[in-house]
Amino acid sequence: MIETSEEHRGHAPSRVLEVCDLRVHLAHEERELEAVAGVSFHVDAGETLALVGESGAGKSVTALSIMRLVRAGGHTAAVRTSGHLRFRNEAGETADLLTLDDEAMRAVRGRSIAMIFQEPMTSLNPVLRVGDQIAEGIVAHDRIGWRAASVRALEMLELVGIPDPRARQRAFPHELSGGMRQRVMIAIALACRPRLLIADEPTTALDVTIQGQVLDLIRRLQSELRMAVLFITHDLGVVAQMADRVAVMYAGRIVEEAPVEAFFESPAHPYSAGLLRSMPNPDPRRPAQALQPIRGTVPSLDQVPPGCAFQPRCDRAAGEDCTQRRPVLEPFGERRAVRCWRPHPVFTTGTGK
Ligand SMILES: Nc1ncnc2c1ncn2[C@@H]1O[C@H](COP(=O)(O)OP(=O)(O)OP(=O)(O)O)[C@@H](O)[C@H]1O
Ligand SMILES: [Mg+2]
Repeated sequence: MIETSEEHRGHAPSRVLEVCDLRVHLAHEERELEAVAGVSFHVDAGETLALVGESGAGKSVTALSIMRLVRAGGHTAAVRTSGHLRFRNEAGETADLLTLDDEAMRAVRGRSIAMIFQEPMTSLNPVLRVGDQIAEGIVAHDRIGWRAASVRALEMLELVGIPDPRARQRAFPHELSGGMRQRVMIAIALACRPRLLIADEPTTALDVTIQGQVLDLIRRLQSELRMAVLFITHDLGVVAQMADRVAVMYAGRIVEEAPVEAFFESPAHPYSAGLLRSMPNPDPRRPAQALQPIRGTVPSLDQVPPGCAFQPRCDRAAGEDCTQRRPVLEPFGERRAVRCWRPHPVFTTGTGK
């Protein structure tokens, strides 16, 4: 077990995950691409960090790297990962997930850290009844008997709003709709009461009512268990409901990190501002505005421009700094960090959580 330097700074007891300079290179058709290019963030007990950004930003690769589940072309050897993933388990022990052996990592997965995947079908076992898949995890985690675990599994199916849960417990994944499978996956993830939940677009496939129920469930368990949540989503309405802090990713990098109110009130990075203008604003107090897409497209990983990666699409870009020098993520105002040479000035009304 590795002691982190934060322990000496005194804010470690609530720190669950600290990601430092995470880099992930994926082998792709004879080339190596940097899908995650130096990402750092932390998540504390009981808080939710939302990770947002357009498709291809590297959100899922970041999440999968924390679980050590990134595969390139089916071979883990084709993935090169560096940095630190400091994780503090329920017993208060801290370890770098990147250096754990496979057996220790298997114990962490599903017990201390659970993940709800973007693609439910790929992570459910097609030949096992869904009730048994939930119970399996509970037996392994809580070391209770199969019968008691089956009762808990049934409760979990009820909790995630599966109709007729007693019958559905005996169903196989292919017998369920996509939304239902997503809820089964959420039940599996939450049944073990993890210390960290990584949710990658967990409600995108669900209709609005069920989405609301699932978000409520995550929030309730979060406050009961002081679970840390890393929540990946495209939906700014969900960000507004769930997040304490927001990290915005672009081309494998975090470009802004801010408390959620500050992010919505006064985004500093031009990309954050662009995202907010391009999506329906979740704040009912604000007048609805015409949506304005961000011009251009996300660069492919082998064509990330020099200087600032966002610069070709940026309305504020000016001068050689933007086109030639890579910006770094730097503190900007209170509890905020920005990777930009020409950030928007920020103001906040100070209603912070
Ligand atoms: N196994 C892989 N092999 C090669 N490249 C990959 C692999 N998985 C992801 N990538 C590439 O890495 C980049 C980041 O992908 P990632 O799935 O993390 O994006 P994302 O932010 O989760 O997007 P979305 O919002 O669409 O889910 C993309 O350019 C993607 O094509
Ligand atoms: Mg993704």
